[in-house]
Amino acid sequence: MEHGFDTKSVHVTRKKEEGVPTKVTPIHQTSAFTFKNLEDIERFYSGEREYLYTRVGNPNTDELGNAVANLEAAPAGIATSSGLSAILVGILSIAKTDDHILASEDLYGGTYELLANELTSFGIEVSFVSFESDIESEIKDNTVLLYTESITNPLLRVENLEQVTQIAKKHQIKTMIDNTFATPYLVQPYSLGVNLVVHSATKYLGGHSDITAGGISWRRRFSYKGKNKMCEFWHKFKPI
Ligand SMILES: Cc1ncc(COP(=O)(O)O)c(C=O)c1O
Repeated sequence: MEHGFDTKSVHVTRKKEEGVPTKVTPIHQTSAFTFKNLEDIERFYSGEREYLYTRVGNPNTDELGNAVANLEAAPAGIATSSGLSAILVGILSIAKTDDHILASEDLYGGTYELLANELTSFGIEVSFVSFESDIESEIKDNTVLLYTESITNPLLRVENLEQVTQIAKKHQIKTMIDNTFATPYLVQPYSLGVNLVVHSATKYLGGHSDITAGGISWRRRFSYKGKNKMCEFWHKFKPI
């Protein structure tokens, strides 16, 4: 039987089959992981065992990233230190100098600042337009990304995601949606064809105003195979 959203959100975390069968994953409060010998390190680089250094992977951040992806019905996900860092990592995985991003004019202020003042200083061109207007006519030869929010902050405009993904696919450009306000309970943009779904988990996903975190969900499954997770995300990500 297919589980409903409530059941899924309770059971979304990974079940530990090995070791002590804890109900909740223990917190792995460690910057690095130990290796018995050089062969053991080799096992990490050949992909037989996980975890070397927490910045590039830790069971707890993995569990969080995968849990958010699971609720988003996306195959893979990573957790980030904040919503804005999820947005920056996502954008930098798609856009580089001389590329153009077409963004909704109606965005969370921090995201607007990031796009308008920071990314432009790296030579990434950004246009802000009303996504209720004819956005197709705003697409340029160097447009690589359509960026908007499923429910916008602060105006609470509900984005027509099907239309946005249709236009993006027609022009072979990528889509990235901030699903913070809607949460996967209301809409699952990945299921509507969006390439990258980002969250400020600081809001409803956290739910208690006691954490700052972010998440990115998308189609790619990670395999360590001796690689740094984040590097794989940055260098090999091809959402379409
Ligand atoms: C819609 C939306 N996206 C992103 C962010 C940024 O998230 P964070 O504060 O976790 O970096 C916020 C923060 O208010 C937000 O409201």
